[in-house]
Amino acid sequence: MSNLVLGIESSCDDTAAAVVDRSGKVLSSVIASQILIHSSWGGVYPEFASRAHVENIVPTILQAMRAANVTPSDLDAICVTRGPGLVGPLLVGLNTASGLGMGWRLPVVGVNHLRGHVRSADLEESRVRFPAVVLLVSGGHTLLAHMVNRTDIRLLASTRDDSLGEAYDKVGRMLGLSYPAGAAIDRLAAVGSPVVDFPRPLLNEGLEFSFSGLKSAVARHLVCSQRATDSDVAASFVQACLDVVAAKCTRAISLVCPESLVVVGGVAASPQLRARVKVICDAAGISLCLPPLRWSTDNAAMIALTGFDYLDAGAFIDPVVTPRLSLESL
Ligand code: KG4
Ligand code: ZN
Repeated sequence: MSNLVLGIESSCDDTAAAVVDRSGKVLSSVIASQILIHSSWGGVYPEFASRAHVENIVPTILQAMRAANVTPSDLDAICVTRGPGLVGPLLVGLNTASGLGMGWRLPVVGVNHLRGHVRSADLEESRVRFPAVVLLVSGGHTLLAHMVNRTDIRLLASTRDDSLGEAYDKVGRMLGLSYPAGAAIDRLAAVGSPVVDFPRPLLNEGLEFSFSGLKSAVARHLVCSQRATDSDVAASFVQACLDVVAAKCTRAISLVCPESLVVVGGVAASPQLRARVKVICDAAGISLCLPPLRWSTDNAAMIALTGFDYLDAGAFIDPVVTPRLSLESL
């Protein structure tokens, strides 16, 4: 056992490869972004994504191997995202991993992308203390979970409609920002004031989220005669989102009584969200576990680290495309 694995991620619009050791140390991480291809479409165009993955995947993997200064014989396994995600992009990653596994005589393990996000909080440094409440906010998902230990992860609630990242991206599009708009919305919001009282969907009800009504409220506001400035709209939208997220996290914490709150996924790169969850954790007297910014958005290091959990559990999950996959599945 060399305690090194190669991770491969291609579930959406980033082709990524990384070499990671068992402790979560990242020896290399390479990401071929497709932002330029998709930005003008206002979202990910699946067929273009698949084609870009086909072009980028082998060079990305080889670059990650070179940067880590490893050869195939240094690796214990190849860990590759099996889902959830877009069928074509997933197929490219899984087929490439299967081919390399055959050629390099390495086991290939299919990994759940959502579990990858959850484990991103332990990259480079072990941060999570159990039990934990997890808030996963990405472009494809928004959910709360109860993490009993590394592998026993129980879904508490998810969104009824749009994910938080999707809401950011759609509101960004309404404001003329290119995809993905999360970071640009943050920057606009930072110079605006939350003067518009947008709805806070399901604020006082349970743990489930809903963002489509809020998104529609922003759209309606933008066509009214006395509309606020773009920065004030962004600030008001972000404030509404954060009020909801804060209420749900506080409720989940009082239910689970955790040692830590883990906040992961692309929207966890938001400075406003980071500041808000810090206040919640300080008030509850629990630790806040945030991955460094570069591990919040999609990457292959989180897939590699999650792969170790599978290997330790003897769970050699077949590398088969699974576009719909719950957080609770391995
Ligand atoms: O986790 P991720 O890279 O991909 C998915 O698995 O979906 O998340 C992408 C999402 C996009 O909606 C993007 O707008 C959002 O994360 N995002 C941000 C920031 N950076 C990325 N949202 C808010 N603030 C950011 N700084
Ligand atoms: Zn993701």
